[in-house]
Formats: sequence, C-alpha cells, structure tokens
Amino acid sequence: MELASLYDVAVFISNYSIPGFTVLIAYWILRQYLSYRRLAHLPGPTFAAWSNLWLVRTIWNQQSHLDVYEVSKKYGPLARIGPNDVITTDVRLIHRLQAVRSPYTRSNWYRGFRLAPGIDNVLSFTDDNLHTKRRAQLSPSFSLQNQEAIIDSHVARLVGLIRKKYVSNENGTKLMDFAQKVQFFALDMVMDIATGSPFDDLVHDEDRYEYLKNTADSLPTIAMIQYLPWAGKILQTRWIAPLISPSASEYGIGKVVDIATRMVDVRITDQSETQKADMLSTFLSNGITHQEAIYESIVTILGGSDTMAIALRATMLFIMTNPRVYIKLVSEILSLSSSLSHDTIPSASQVRTLPYLQATIKESLRVFPPGTGQMPKVTPTGGETINGIFIPGATNIGSNPWFIMRSQDNFRPDAEIFRPER
Ligand code: HEM
Repeated sequence: MELASLYDVAVFISNYSIPGFTVLIAYWILRQYLSYRRLAHLPGPTFAAWSNLWLVRTIWNQQSHLDVYEVSKKYGPLARIGPNDVITTDVRLIHRLQAVRSPYTRSNWYRGFRLAPGIDNVLSFTDDNLHTKRRAQLSPSFSLQNQEAIIDSHVARLVGLIRKKYVSNENGTKLMDFAQKVQFFALDMVMDIATGSPFDDLVHDEDRYEYLKNTADSLPTIAMIQYLPWAGKILQTRWIAPLISPSASEYGIGKVVDIATRMVDVRITDQSETQKADMLSTFLSNGITHQEAIYESIVTILGGSDTMAIALRATMLFIMTNPRVYIKLVSEILSLSSSLSHDTIPSASQVRTLPYLQATIKESLRVFPPGTGQMPKVTPTGGETINGIFIPGATNIGSNPWFIMRSQDNFRPDAEIFRPER
C-alpha cells in the first residue's frame, strides 16, 4: 500500500511537475518581459532594464552615486536604472517631486527606514498624509533654543581632545585620524540633542559601543534591501521583523535603542524630566507615543550624525587642500575672533556674518553632498508626460544630487572645482 502510494506520488510528479515547472518559467519570463516593456523607451544600462541587481550591485560596491552619475552623463536627464526605477537630473522635475502637495508620493524605498515592526517614523512613512502629520509633530523639536549650547559643549570637547592628545611640537609629531574624531563629535552631539544622553565617544576618544563600526557594516545592507521590494516585504513580515529589528543591547545600534528607551522611561516616571526642553520631551508633548518617540530619536541619530560627519570631513578636506581658501578663511575668522575673549566659541549668529565661511560650507555641500540617496517618488496613477516622454503610473523617479551639483549647466564650466567664490 505504502509502496503503491509512493509510486503514485512519483507518477504524479513526473506527469505534472515538468509541465508545472515549465508554466512557472514561462510566467516568469512573460512577467520580466512585460516589466521590461513598460519603460523600454527610456535609455539606460541594458542589465538595469531587466533586473534590480544592477542597483543592488552598485550599492554593494558603495559607489552608487558615481555609477548613477555616469548613467546620467551618458543617457541624459531621464534614464532607467532599474525595471521600475528612473533617475532624473531635471531640476524642475525634482522641484515637482519634492513639492508640498506634489502628485508624486513617497516610494517603498522609504520603508527601508522602518526600524521596528509596525512602527513607522518620519523617514519611513510612505503615506504622505501621515508623513505630513508626523513632520508637524516633530518640527518644534528642530528649532529648540538650547541646541546651540549643546553644540558648543561638544565643540569645546573636540578642541579639548585635540589640545590634550594631538598637538605636534618640537618633541614629536602626533598623528590624529580627524575623520574618526568628527564622527565621535557628530554622534555625541546629535545623541545629546535627541536624547540628552551622548555616548561620550569624544571624552573616551573611542567608538565606545562600536556604533560606528556597526553602522558602517549594516547600512550598505539596508541600502541594498531598499531596492529589493520583495526582500523588504519578507523582512518586514511579523514573523521575521522582530528577529532582525534592532533591540536594546550593549552594542552598536542596539545601544542607541537602549539609551532612547531608558530616556523615554525616565520621562514617564520623572515629571521634572518631562519639563526639559529637549527633543524627546517635545516629541512626547506633541502627541507621539512612547514607542514612536523611541524610534523617532533613533532615526534622528542615524540620519543626523553620519550626514553631519561627512559634511565636516569634506569641508575640512577642501579647506586643507586649498591654500588660497585656507588663507582667506583664516583671515576672515581672525577678524571676528579679535572681538572675542580667549577660548570663546563664536555664536551661530556671529558666524553667519562671515560671508566667506558661509560660502565655503555651501560650496563643500555642493561638491560633496553628504546625502546621495535617490529618494525615489512614485508617479501618479495614469502616469505623466515629462519633457515629451511618457512615464507610466507607479514608476519610481529618483533624483541625482551628485550630478546636479556638478553640472556645468547649473554651476559653470568649472563645476567640478571647489571654489567658494562662485
Ligand atoms: C549636512 C547634514 C545633513 C544633510 C545633508 C541631511 C540631508 C537630509 C535629506 C536629503 C533629507 C530628506 C530625505 C527625504 O525625505 O527624502 C533629510 C531628512 C531628515 N533629516 Fe537630515 N540632513 C542633515 C543633517 C541632519 C541632522 C543634524 C538631523 C537631526 C539632528 C537630521 C534629521 C533629519 C530628519 C529627522 C529627516 C526626515 C525629515 C522628513 O522626512 O520630513 N538631518 N536630511
């Protein structure tokens, strides 16, 4: 009987599995072809038209900004970089994508910023109404008066560390990894602003909880998954998401979760803490739940520290490698410092009066924009005709900041050169 059943199963498989498999393959090929056809009229790398693996590979190699820069140079203002992904360098179109009440909506790419199952944050919302509502709830926390004092305290720590450990003199040369110190600075500062509890990496002069190492290891994977919608869906199911979402621990992003959770708990149990004019208190007093506040502060730390560190690194590199800019800048800063007492950190309003410093910062952000993600938006139902080219509805259109900032049309023929005077 058992043998007969096994025999029947074998016959069934041989009769039906091969045709079934063939049908599946045929279905897959047809699907791929139809997906290819939708945007076949757009130029772009051939492989990218068929598979998201083109995008995934370029992100894996950590040079997607350079690869899409080359794509835009070669294929023009509207090019295809994935089966459903288009990249644009058209500034007017980008204004339209980003505008308030734009008909374009946030794509599933933003979902990749979801840090906990079922809990969205300001970056991960794809529903524009919910996103706008959350922005309104958060915006008071980004204009707090006391942030300048917090920033100054971390500037003083950075300067103090350099003076204590890294000043070269006639007795010897001290080497310092400036790129690492500004990461410590940016992380401590943003954590302090967001939660009131920095890691104190600058004080200890080390990546204390290996947060920087942990994010450097994990962010490229998160960026890749943002371009694999099926992987994102699987990873965010209620069975898998709890296993992979960062949870409180003594290490890396887990340590940020731990601190944010404890800081929210303190505000629940201690009324005097609720009165503090910091970001967390502002989140909580604007109708955000405790769980949401935890993840909003984490996303602020993730989004604010790395961008800030990149901006500082790039600006200092450009200044140090351009003697002309360095001399001009130092003389402008000295003109201000003569009116300040020794060791006083100039206020934000004072440094805003230094035109060459402002131009230097802006020029650095132009030549080396810290955020090179494409931030794709979705075309409205029914599609749109852009500069005579029809783009069907539900297509992702991302922007290419690296290209726009280096475009000779936007910034003259020397667009690739760092020149604050421009
Ligand atoms: C030079 C430094 C920075 C750069 C270049 C930068 C860049 C950006 C960009 C391009 C976005 C838009 C993403 C999108 O919605 O498509 C964004 C959003 C955001 N950034 Fe920054 N950022 C910087 C510093 C910071 C800092 C210091 C903080 C926090 C203290 C921060 C917190 C946020 C938050 C919360 C959002 C989400 C806003 C929203 O979706 O409405 N950023 N940032």
